[in-house]
Amino acid sequence: MSRDREKQLAAEAAAELVTSGQTVGLGTGSTAAFAVRKLGQRVRDGLSMLGIPTSESTRALAEAEGIPLTTFADTHAIDITLDGADEFDAGLNLIKGGGGALFREKIVASASRRLVIFADASKRVERLGRFPLPVEVTPFGWQVAAARIEELGAGVSLRGGADAPFLTDNHGYVLDCAFGEIRDPAALEARLRAIVGVTVTGLFVGMAETVLMAEGETVHTFRPA
Ligand code: A5P
Repeated sequence: MSRDREKQLAAEAAAELVTSGQTVGLGTGSTAAFAVRKLGQRVRDGLSMLGIPTSESTRALAEAEGIPLTTFADTHAIDITLDGADEFDAGLNLIKGGGGALFREKIVASASRRLVIFADASKRVERLGRFPLPVEVTPFGWQVAAARIEELGAGVSLRGGADAPFLTDNHGYVLDCAFGEIRDPAALEARLRAIVGVTVTGLFVGMAETVLMAEGETVHTFRPA
């Protein structure tokens, strides 16, 4: 079973959860793209919904699919957000941001009544941290934030490198932070957020309501343990 097939199955199962009249956060990444395409098909079949994309790339895809969009200027209340993840644990804590959309993903998730995550089976871990944690920082003084994060025990690398840093949609830089096993995601989140220059971390602690994970042809539903 290919990983792409699992991504598609999980994402399409999540897209089926949307009901007419809902405002829907649209996630970012290769798995989320399957959900956006499925929602596009459902809109063409008559589903009435409004989307709030979590990145410019998702906006472009949603527009191409004919999904009507809205913004935070018009609503602060999102019924359901469908998004991917880089890792999830049994408590449904997540690492996100592999695609660099962590800031918009997190603010959209925080405004959502339900955050539904979809994933292929490779994303499930005993403890978060195999995937280096993305942390978004302001370009000015990023070196200071990087040094503080190193003091917390991580190997830190500036995404894209100092000569051509990757820029997020939010005009930030991303530090990929290899902490190894993260024993206490909530405590680490608090310590990272206390660092001046950190705008958001890719740790989503206690935010996901459900994870739909495809393994082979089966889609498993996980709720926080
Ligand atoms: C984007 O910034 C990320 O949070 C993605 O949701 C995450 O990286 C999962 O991406 P894939 O679905 O491409 O694995």
